[in-house]
Amino acid sequence: MHERHTTARSGPSRANASRPDHAGSGPWRTDPSTLRLLQFTDLHLYAEPDRLLFDQCTRRTFAQVLARAQTQHWPPDAILFTGDLVHDERVEGYRYLRQIVDAIECPCFCLPGNHDRADLLAAEVEPGADRDWRVEPLGPWDLLLLDSTIAGSDGGRLRPETLEQLERYLAAAKQRPALISVHHQPVPVGSRWIDTMQIENGADLMALAERHPQLRVILYGHVHQAFDRQLGSTRLLATPSTCAQFKPASDDFALDSLRPGYRWLELAPDGHLRTGIERLTTETLGAPVRPQRVENPLSGR
Ligand SMILES: [Fe+2]
Repeated sequence: MHERHTTARSGPSRANASRPDHAGSGPWRTDPSTLRLLQFTDLHLYAEPDRLLFDQCTRRTFAQVLARAQTQHWPPDAILFTGDLVHDERVEGYRYLRQIVDAIECPCFCLPGNHDRADLLAAEVEPGADRDWRVEPLGPWDLLLLDSTIAGSDGGRLRPETLEQLERYLAAAKQRPALISVHHQPVPVGSRWIDTMQIENGADLMALAERHPQLRVILYGHVHQAFDRQLGSTRLLATPSTCAQFKPASDDFALDSLRPGYRWLELAPDGHLRTGIERLTTETLGAPVRPQRVENPLSGR
């Protein structure tokens, strides 16, 4: 099933509203025609408020990352939560996230990851989050949100019908710049172990991007590390987790000592963009993050 033009649970879009409160509030540009997005990904929240993943309390690091965004890049026009929002498939983590989303005064769009229960995400946080794909128009841009999850698997795949519908949509809306957001990576990130869990038909998505140059960005999570590559007209961007980071270019599972973070994006009406990663500082992260070799609880269902 797919549906278009759904509305996020949170407040009205400010994409076209005047924004006098932006002036001087961090590194955002002040051009009111530019859309400002934030991406938070791979929160891995638990039902238990104090539960740790790799020695870090995931609710705590997410709260710290959000607080960092609220001092550095605020307010955004919309926020994308790109999957693995809850680690243990229990409802309490979604209800916790719902409380946070309700307090954020901008649209929040959610995608499921391989650890999520899409039905709980849609029921508790954002109606529409369980759809195969959807379009969220935001000012002059279209946000195209895709579900890449496979039931019972940590890998990713896009349904052929989704790709066909995307193809038709982009052909009809070719004047509008578009951003695709999805959980899994469509191209290898360069780590053998996690690239076994990429979108298995990612080449089909990249072929579609080549045919539709207005597709300016493909934005994702899953890899728990920053990634930035331009392929043709399309910029491929992955983003650090709000909790644990994976070591880049590692054949086997390994953690990195880099801090949790988020991505900010500025989307211009002509399709150009600026983007960057913001991480917690040593001062804001209370407990040390240690690189370590441990059994990977993020895969192996
Ligand atoms: Fe994850």
